[in-house]
Amino acid sequence: MQQKIRKAIIPAAGFGTRMLPATKSIPKELLTIVDRPVLDYIVAEAFASGIEHVIIVTGRMKGAIEDHFDHAFELDVSLRNAGKHPLADRIAQNTPAAGSISFVRQQQARGLGHAVWTARHIVGDEPFAVLLPDMLMVADRPCLKSMVDLHALQGGNVIAVERCAPEDAHKFGIVSLKPTADGPIVTGLVEKPAPGTAPSNLYISGRYVLQPEIFDILEKQTPGAGGEIQLTDAMLTLMETQAIRPFEFSGRTFDCGMPAGFVAANLHMAAARPDLAPYVGIEIEALSLARRAVA
Ligand code: UTP
Repeated sequence: MQQKIRKAIIPAAGFGTRMLPATKSIPKELLTIVDRPVLDYIVAEAFASGIEHVIIVTGRMKGAIEDHFDHAFELDVSLRNAGKHPLADRIAQNTPAAGSISFVRQQQARGLGHAVWTARHIVGDEPFAVLLPDMLMVADRPCLKSMVDLHALQGGNVIAVERCAPEDAHKFGIVSLKPTADGPIVTGLVEKPAPGTAPSNLYISGRYVLQPEIFDILEKQTPGAGGEIQLTDAMLTLMETQAIRPFEFSGRTFDCGMPAGFVAANLHMAAARPDLAPYVGIEIEALSLARRAVA
């Protein structure tokens, strides 16, 4: 029987430079996909996957993230006085239960691995999930839920992977795999391999289930690509002693941390809403063109 995945870390302390100037004063994670901050969708995915406690890593200029998940007393009273009860109810339902969301500060943006490590004391000695808040992963069944289920069956670590066209592999972090009696396991991770050298066309996407030993590795991890403490570097060390299994996600992923993915996500989510679809005014063919532009 595997230990349940109860906690999820959402690192949200980066600068979001690819979305400047929007992110000069607005956290990238609060940019809206239609009428909800992208982070809202990610937190909802975590809770829909059975997570009981979400830990958001924030930093300077990110205070609005905490406010978004707080009970907005004045707003609630004002909406109810104006008779707007359905809207007030919707906002209240969207606020996580008290104690089910915590915030930890990453004082310096030293990389994704460092951001995950800052949550170590809140996670403690148990396996946990990581969700990247700019990766909107749309599917009938939440990506993280499938990964949590895989962990319940086989234990170890699980990373979400997706398939790209082989000629695009040089744009991504690519995994190499080896078959075992219990299904494939990850044997290597290569960040943006030179064209023609990629070991597969499966790239790491934005969800992880990790064992707590990763924290000890991150503690000693030296800066890697971009001078940042990289989660993938720590995972390379972890895989020397523990299995990392791939979960191939087959839904739609939008990288909302860059303009093409952000626009495509907004078009997709608006087109899926009956009240907004007529305003989007584009056909599915145009959407798939937009999706290709993301890759
Ligand atoms: P990204 O590399 O996509 O975010 O990290 P970024 O650094 O904010 O973006 P750019 O490259 O400057 O445009 C993935 C997630 O990890 C968080 C980010 O906030 C983002 O949600 N992150 C990254 C941290 O929390 N701390 C860091 O030091 C770096």
